[in-house]
Amino acid sequence: MTGERGLPELRELADRYGTPAYLYELDEVDAAVSGLRQALPAPAVLYYSVKANPHPVLVRALRDAGCHAEISSSGELAAAREAGFAGAHCLYTGPGKTTEEIARALAAGVRRFSAESVVDYHRIAATAAAAGVTADCLVRVNTLRAKGASGLRMSGTATQFGVDVAVLAEHPELFTTRPGGRVVGLHFFSVSNASSEAVIAEEMCASIATAAQLRVDPGIDLRVLDLGGGFAAPYAREGHLPDYRRLRRRVESGLDAHLPGWRAGEPAVAFESGRYLVGSCGRLLVQVADVKRSQDRTFVVLDSGINHLGGLSGLGRLMPVAATVLPATTRGAWPDREVAVEGRATMVGPLCTPADVLARDAVVGAVASGDLVAIPNVGAYGLTASLVGFLSRPVAAEVVLRGGSPVDASRVELRRVPIQSRAPRTGGRRHEISGSV
Ligand SMILES: Cc1ncc(COP(=O)(O)O)c(C=O)c1O
Repeated sequence: MTGERGLPELRELADRYGTPAYLYELDEVDAAVSGLRQALPAPAVLYYSVKANPHPVLVRALRDAGCHAEISSSGELAAAREAGFAGAHCLYTGPGKTTEEIARALAAGVRRFSAESVVDYHRIAATAAAAGVTADCLVRVNTLRAKGASGLRMSGTATQFGVDVAVLAEHPELFTTRPGGRVVGLHFFSVSNASSEAVIAEEMCASIATAAQLRVDPGIDLRVLDLGGGFAAPYAREGHLPDYRRLRRRVESGLDAHLPGWRAGEPAVAFESGRYLVGSCGRLLVQVADVKRSQDRTFVVLDSGINHLGGLSGLGRLMPVAATVLPATTRGAWPDREVAVEGRATMVGPLCTPADVLARDAVVGAVASGDLVAIPNVGAYGLTASLVGFLSRPVAAEVVLRGGSPVDASRVELRRVPIQSRAPRTGGRRHEISGSV
């Protein structure tokens, strides 16, 4: 943690909205969209992956900036619709889609789906046929490659995502046009949070070559080619978005070499990003509740932990947190303020579990109860990837800013609501799909 005087606006926002509070700056979102667009081939559709942050004001800003929406659940569909996205601008992805979810998406006008398996494709088609429409499907491909180092690899290995490229090549009959469904292209998403620009370029060029090959043999209809993403962003530590200045040229050369019609939209090319687009817009503002020693270690107890930041931390996936400390201004409110530390400390949240750790061995300046702590670069996979229900604490406030001024402030509320029991099914198991490999 770095000690820092000033930043009075953070203190003011904490006084106004309380802590813990997420602060999202829309100017940062706009800058990230234009930065990524410059790094990508054009023309291309850029999907915003709503899973990174479904806050409706942010999602609307991404729509206004020209993005389309990549969604994976009925909740994300609702967020996209609330933000003004037309169903026609949504791509529905993800394994295990249920008939109900697909039907809801179709009713909202969604027509483009990523098919994660044969079963998924047949279920999408059957549901669309029942609704009297046709769904355009991109078959998600699990490529053979497993080279690139990344935060999270989602292909090139045995995985629940996509269809093994060998299955697609050897059994194209599983993906032929059927009532309610047709394959109009391919979807690749092999890495998330890639370690370098070279890894992304290499993955995308390999995907382009694979797609071109599959178009020739077995003759996949390639009107749309979604090359995914893997664009990285710093998480809970200081830093800037990566500079992808060589990416565009490399991917455009790959497209020109293998799919020369792409500039005229044959195929139409698409990319996806969550964390790059919204990661840098968000800061989490928390307050130090206590500072204590246990044996040879110092613990800084914050008023928020893995319930608001890093469900991923609970899974041991969080990178070291860096934070800025804003010393408390009113000593009177914190009679125990003399307990202060300087050196290394473990930053923990208030939950009753030893897993509630945000940072071990963080370097802290002088810190005492009542101080504010600002954790940067948590606009993506912050609140939405956290254990918000655990210990039944109120969910953190979310304040959206434009040019530093608040434009929206709200809080998610978890409420118990009664549910209707479903009518019992007759006739035992339902068989709505056929075919698997
Ligand atoms: C299919 C798909 N698209 C997009 C994303 C967004 O990834 P990121 O936020 O790293 O850009 C993910 C993340 O898991 C994904 O699975």
